[in-house]
Amino acid sequence: MNDDRLQELLASMTLKEKFGQLTQITGELYVGQVEKEMVETGPVYPQHILNEETLFTIGSVIGASGAKTTNRIQAEYLQRSRLKIPLLFMHDAIHGYRTIFPIPLGLSCSWDEGLVQRVAEETASELRAAGIHVNFSPMTDLVRDARWGRVMESFGEDHLLSGDLGRAMIRGYQKNSEGQMPTAGVAACLKHFAAYGAGIGGKDYNTVDMSMREFFEYYGKPYEIALQERPKFVMSSFNSFNGVPVTASPAMLKEILREHYGFEDLVISDWGAVSELQRHRVARDGREAAELALGAGVDIEMVSTHYLEHFEAIVEKQPELLKDVDAAVLKVLRLKNEMGLFENPYADEGAEDAVLLNLASLELAEEAGIRSSVLLKNKNETLPLRPEHRNLVLVGPFARTPELLGNWACKGRFSDVVTLEQGLKQADGSLSVAAFEKLEDCPQGVLARCDYIVVTVGEHWERSGEGHSSVKLELEEEQKRLIRTVKATGLPYACICFSGRPLVLQDIVDDMPALLWCWYPGTRAGAAVAKLLTGQATPSGKLTMSFPRASAQTPIYYNEYSTGRPANASSYSSRYQDCDIGPLFTFGHGLTYTGATYSDFAISGRRITETEDLKVTFKINNPSRYDYPEIVILYIEDVVSRSVRPVREMKAYQVVPVPACGSVNVEMSISLEDLKYLDADLRRTVEPGEFRIYVNDLERPVFTIEY
Ligand code: IFM
Repeated sequence: MNDDRLQELLASMTLKEKFGQLTQITGELYVGQVEKEMVETGPVYPQHILNEETLFTIGSVIGASGAKTTNRIQAEYLQRSRLKIPLLFMHDAIHGYRTIFPIPLGLSCSWDEGLVQRVAEETASELRAAGIHVNFSPMTDLVRDARWGRVMESFGEDHLLSGDLGRAMIRGYQKNSEGQMPTAGVAACLKHFAAYGAGIGGKDYNTVDMSMREFFEYYGKPYEIALQERPKFVMSSFNSFNGVPVTASPAMLKEILREHYGFEDLVISDWGAVSELQRHRVARDGREAAELALGAGVDIEMVSTHYLEHFEAIVEKQPELLKDVDAAVLKVLRLKNEMGLFENPYADEGAEDAVLLNLASLELAEEAGIRSSVLLKNKNETLPLRPEHRNLVLVGPFARTPELLGNWACKGRFSDVVTLEQGLKQADGSLSVAAFEKLEDCPQGVLARCDYIVVTVGEHWERSGEGHSSVKLELEEEQKRLIRTVKATGLPYACICFSGRPLVLQDIVDDMPALLWCWYPGTRAGAAVAKLLTGQATPSGKLTMSFPRASAQTPIYYNEYSTGRPANASSYSSRYQDCDIGPLFTFGHGLTYTGATYSDFAISGRRITETEDLKVTFKINNPSRYDYPEIVILYIEDVVSRSVRPVREMKAYQVVPVPACGSVNVEMSISLEDLKYLDADLRRTVEPGEFRIYVNDLERPVFTIEY
């Protein structure tokens, strides 16, 4: 349909039909609850105003999927709506639709934009096959507090990496060029704007209060970067920001998101968030809530229906809003048109099965599982298994379970999952693998023959995700007991951990000779982890979120600001009296099996100028049999500045393919832009002086440069 026809369509719409396009509801209102095909991701809101007429003006449906189900809803809708504008279907495929990939926090540990983009491309294909047009992903909320259950959906604590990976994900979903939406892709929804990850105390939905400097330098940055890829939607966040709920904040949604960051497409509220303005107690009733949200620039109301209930009163009072309403409806119509829905509103029911869980997607899930895992500790090369380790006992809560998908696993099924036990048996047919949830269940005879124990520990998948903040990040006592009992056998053993967030390991880490952190790897979990345990692949991931030593040590992150009394042994320093200084495992930490070393560090000059970048070069030497991706990270330290700066700032990173038994030369650039910062008066500035350069190692600088 050409744009003139879309404009004509808009002109033919009643006001109610326009507000219908700006309202999103759940699918069962059309076809009843279809078991397993509808997902609810928030509380129920009364939708009593949705009488027959109103129901068939609606613009989009959340949480219904599957070609058959979406087609049924679409058919019912199109048959009974006056203008027959097809519905958009939207869903949360946070780390895959049916093929489940590692949780985003895990994916981020690969530091690999290409990998993340491919994951998003596969997810988009499955979504489209299942009748979905819009994905509520990526989430680029910056996270520093492992108590928050949603850290699992994030890309970690660094703003640049989070932004880059968010951008890669959008590129993958939208499969687009120049902002056009080919029929194969899905529209991305960048969320949750803004600073949702900074809720006080790590409590979900909680208040956010921060300086604008902190916002523009850190919390806002990942959205700013990801927005460069032109997602079709941005979701406003649940939280209030400096006193105003974002859903009602023109300062956030108009001035910052649209004017400052240049976003031109659609803003959708989070689930029920328009209605929740009443609970924030900034709106007296639903009408005021709708008025505030519309006025703030929320184009689409998700799940609650105050726009539809009160539009007449609102536009009577504020007729100037009509212009924005028309602009938003036109964007919705254009998107439907770009996605080809006016020509074909239906998903191909015959094609869906061939797309879901296709081989390429499963292979990618396995690759991503391998690349996301982080080897945190490996004393005396406890891992990988050696040729003499033939009789394995696999023990602990994750030894046999298929529940390795993680939260927000969309349409992933446990029956699709490769368990660890299955993965190990498939990885090496000559291994004897006996798996038990508890060591007591392992018969004495089996233990007597055993030559290696793999202990599985972690946090059950339902303990992280939305609404799952925790004050206790420690491993369960029973799991610690298990580790100590295994230790007492005197047999060689390694620990592997599944979790949606960093956990506290301070009092057990010494009892773990090796620790492989697998996050939640998804459908091919067991296959991926087995390749790492057996040494068919080397771990290569590096942490993107620091591991606290105690739950009360959160928030903790590598780029904290300098203080007047930096932490040291003295009690008059910025530290906790009852906790060692710094994280247990820091951002950027991650081991491999390769024994690779760095050498030949050089720099192209010592003085940086407006016109000349500096090049840092070095060599990675890999004596091992593994071809692997080495993650190199460059940090700077601004030695003296007029505004307080972080102790270290990541400025560049690369994922470098390193050949087995070979070496590779690496070059990384530093530009003047990298030395700039937002000063206390919000001016982007760079000051003359010294800057120290660090590569991977946060403690020892390799060079000092000057500007
Ligand atoms: O996309 C999600 C959001 O992240 C949290 N609330 C519900 C939305 C829709 O499911």
